[in-house]
Amino acid sequence: MGRRGVSVDEEDRWVFNRLAHGYGHRPGYPEALVERLSELAQGGEVVDLGAGTGHLALPLARRGLGVRAVEPARRMLEVLAVRARAEGLGVEAVHAVAERTGVSDEVADLVLIADVLHWLDPEQVGAEARRLLRPGGALAVVEVALEDNPFQRALTELLAQANPKARSRSRSSALAQLFAIALGERPHQVERFAVPLALTPEQLEQVLRTHSFVAPALGEVGTAALVARAVSLAAVHGGARWDRRFTLTWARAG
Ligand SMILES: C[S@@+](CC[C@H](N)C(=O)[O-])C[C@H]1O[C@@H](n2cnc3c(N)ncnc32)[C@H](O)[C@@H]1O
Repeated sequence: MGRRGVSVDEEDRWVFNRLAHGYGHRPGYPEALVERLSELAQGGEVVDLGAGTGHLALPLARRGLGVRAVEPARRMLEVLAVRARAEGLGVEAVHAVAERTGVSDEVADLVLIADVLHWLDPEQVGAEARRLLRPGGALAVVEVALEDNPFQRALTELLAQANPKARSRSRSSALAQLFAIALGERPHQVERFAVPLALTPEQLEQVLRTHSFVAPALGEVGTAALVARAVSLAAVHGGARWDRRFTLTWARAG
């Protein structure tokens, strides 16, 4: 069961099953961040919790790391598995929630939680991470945010009007709770990465359609209207600036 009490077999209730097809359009992670995560894994085994279609699982596997990709949305996991097979990568696809992976104890040199903490129960996932980590293994959480700029401010307002239930992404108490349960009171490190990006109107549409609070919530007519308004906002504000900030928080088990 995930945070919302949904079993992995209830496929219709995992909204990400409806997003798997276009998810590859989401911009990837910066090389420097992938490299840093690879260093944290120290050449060993990674358990990627909520791996999606593999935006980090695949680049980490390309660096020679063994990766278990844990993902409850079966369609997302299928896309990931097909891509891993096509490249002959060492990725094991695990159809499960992060709260209860079914993966053996003490297998992980790195437990990774990227752009997914806001979907998780931090208490249960903290206990699961503690169980999965080998002595000296690292727990790493990656959070993604968009830089504040006039286009993003206008877009945020537009999204809030279109779907008032759009989830706030800030859960700093969840982060603290996760680390405390997984690793006790060990101090954690924080590192930051930034990547500038400007989307074309077509890319803006593709990226908007990967968000759970857009197409699955608004339907096709609502989504098309929202995209048209977003494209107009970009024209008014000098382009669809999609500059991203990544915060990596990590610590090692004793
Ligand atoms: C925004 S995507 C991030 C995917 C990937 N980590 C990345 O950075 O590209 C969030 C993912 O978390 C998954 N997810 C949602 N609830 C989850 C849970 N309880 N356990 C594990 N994954 C979950 C979703 O199915 C989705 O694939």
